[in-house]
Amino acid sequence: MILRCIGCGREYDPNEIRYRCECGGLLEVIIDLGEVENVFDGKNVTLWKYKSFIPVEKRVSLNEGGTPLYRLENLQRELNMRELYVKNEGANPTGSFKDRGMTVGVSKALELGMDKVICASTGNTSASLAAYSAKAGIKSYVLVPSGKIALGKLAQAIVYGAKVIPVKGNFDDALRVVIEASKELGVYMLNSINPFRLEGQKTIAFEIFDQLGFVPDNIVLPVGNAGNISAIWKGFKELYKAGFIEKLPRMIGVQAEGASPLAKAWKEKREFKPEEKPETIATAIRIGNPANWKKAWRAVKESGGLFESVSDEEILRAQKLLASKEGIFVEPASASSLAGLIKLKELSLIEPDESYVLITTGHGLKDPNVIIENFRPKLPEPIEPSLEAFKEVL
Ligand code: F0G
Repeated sequence: MILRCIGCGREYDPNEIRYRCECGGLLEVIIDLGEVENVFDGKNVTLWKYKSFIPVEKRVSLNEGGTPLYRLENLQRELNMRELYVKNEGANPTGSFKDRGMTVGVSKALELGMDKVICASTGNTSASLAAYSAKAGIKSYVLVPSGKIALGKLAQAIVYGAKVIPVKGNFDDALRVVIEASKELGVYMLNSINPFRLEGQKTIAFEIFDQLGFVPDNIVLPVGNAGNISAIWKGFKELYKAGFIEKLPRMIGVQAEGASPLAKAWKEKREFKPEEKPETIATAIRIGNPANWKKAWRAVKESGGLFESVSDEEILRAQKLLASKEGIFVEPASASSLAGLIKLKELSLIEPDESYVLITTGHGLKDPNVIIENFRPKLPEPIEPSLEAFKEVL
């Protein structure tokens, strides 16, 4: 196993604490694919089933992974599509896919002898880091954009015992501070530019293949800091290089319109440019300068996929649709995958006869306020506790 720069190819010892190459490029973990085991039999799916692909020995675990993969029978009929699935990452221990990254990342922190970890977060990363460091018995510091983090996520980070520090600014500002702090203060940084995080998250690809028994034509997922799309693509490529699969899926990345530097650059066929003032109701992906954009760009390009963006209104509509038609309640960022699929179908930019797996990244209960504030549910006036009164409101 080595760390290699995706830009200049320079290699580093994986036991050196380093998040970027000397040239500034992103690093990735190169594992020995000669040693991986073909365990893809559809049984007992959990993250650590794929341990031969995971480059850590220690294991700080809360039984992450093994999330359900649902066929969207009602929605595929309604949308006139042949084969739609959801991989529901909200079913992880802290309610988001970040747990996959943290089980590996916090294990790596222990292997490196670190007793303090840090991250910037729009919410889910902080909840997950806080939980896994609690389990590991180490101290966690999380920096979050002040006033722009969903209540459920903040509550999680607090109760798991992280030191929560609100920052006057957005995620991008918080990440800048975290990167500087990790260099100067000897705390281990577990944002997704830490390549070991992505080693956990790539197991989403393994589980999809394991659960379906085949590789779907397309994977559709939200993109914020752009780690997850990079990780899932890496997972599929490893399966391919190991000779376990014979085709690769297209990667379709969906951003919120007000925070869509990748989708804009893609659609306008121009250079990537960060956005100064990202804004969206989907606070999880309210990010203007995705740290992993180069990896994500490569994933979409190599796979023959695309980037798209969706409005807040489209996100909320998709969130309601997924819950009310399929019984799957996800947070707004997660609903952008369905919103993106619907938009792309309407624009005839995707093929309705192909198979699609939507990744829903976080649980709906993370952000209940968004439902109360935006759907303004009309509840009847409280009734007397009698059958008569009940019949009257019916
Ligand atoms: N969906 C949810 C629910 C998220 O929390 C995030 C990222 C994403 C999608 C995007 O994933 O960053 O890998 O492209 N949340 C981070 C956080 C930034 O701090 O919790 P990505």
